[in-house]
Amino acid sequence: PLVSMKEMLEKGKENGYAVGQFNINNLEYVQAILQAAEEEKSPVILGVSEGAGKYMGGFNVVVAMVKSLMESYGTPVPVAIHLDHGSSFQKCAEAIHAGFTSVMIDGSHSPIEENIAVTGKVVELAQIHGVSVEAEVGTVGGEEDGVIGGIKYADLEECQRLVKEAEIDCLAPALGSVHGEYQGEPNLGFKEMEEILNAVNVPLVLHGGTGIPTKDIQKAISLGTAKINVNTENQLAQTRAVRKTLEEKPNLYDPRKYLGPGTEAIKETVKGKMREFGSSNQA
Ligand code: G3H
Ligand code: ZN
Repeated sequence: PLVSMKEMLEKGKENGYAVGQFNINNLEYVQAILQAAEEEKSPVILGVSEGAGKYMGGFNVVVAMVKSLMESYGTPVPVAIHLDHGSSFQKCAEAIHAGFTSVMIDGSHSPIEENIAVTGKVVELAQIHGVSVEAEVGTVGGEEDGVIGGIKYADLEECQRLVKEAEIDCLAPALGSVHGEYQGEPNLGFKEMEEILNAVNVPLVLHGGTGIPTKDIQKAISLGTAKINVNTENQLAQTRAVRKTLEEKPNLYDPRKYLGPGTEAIKETVKGKMREFGSSNQA
């Protein structure tokens, strides 16, 4: 069933596992991720960036595609459709009205007062629709959808204020993680994560899940991280498989035959993450 993230994240936080957010780009991603979730008996979050939403034909198309695939699969596990890095109240409202069950309002690039104000506005609308809300403090490094930023650690007091004043369901405190591949080992601020966990009473979100070693994933989960976002790793796995197939059979032209192996690769990657995050058999 399609649900908000609220309950799945609270259960994850309570029981020491994290639910993966896997970003979708087209039909094949939705197929691969839903199949992985069903086979692993795992709750799952389908992440949709504004750019990917536009690419797929708009938020309405995304919701129709996901709902209809879930119906034809008879998907038995909880699934959330979540707007990733929503850039404005407008975009979040558009996603909510299209039927998304969860949104992230990313006001992290504005001063905290503005971040709290826009997040509070989104929460007010979201609550009417039973939609969960994620918000961010600090800056995740690297690039997403063309927006490039340096790393800025989340400020403890700002985290406290955002959670308290805007009543969000989960918080993404940027603590050294990066979108895309890491240059060398990631250096996550676990001390800060612990302080934030103790100061706010909501599940934490880790962005930039690609390339984080298992020991860091486990440490983050032990410090209240109940949602981990993965995007690049699926894209790399898919592209690697498609490239290999086309190299081996340069005369292929039927998209089903070269995209199929890419879809399998996404599915295997997602299943591996679900096991690593501990969400397998938790649906
Ligand atoms: O919001 C999405 C992500 O944080 C994904 O990051 O592409 O590094 O896995 P990633
Ligand atoms: Zn992110």
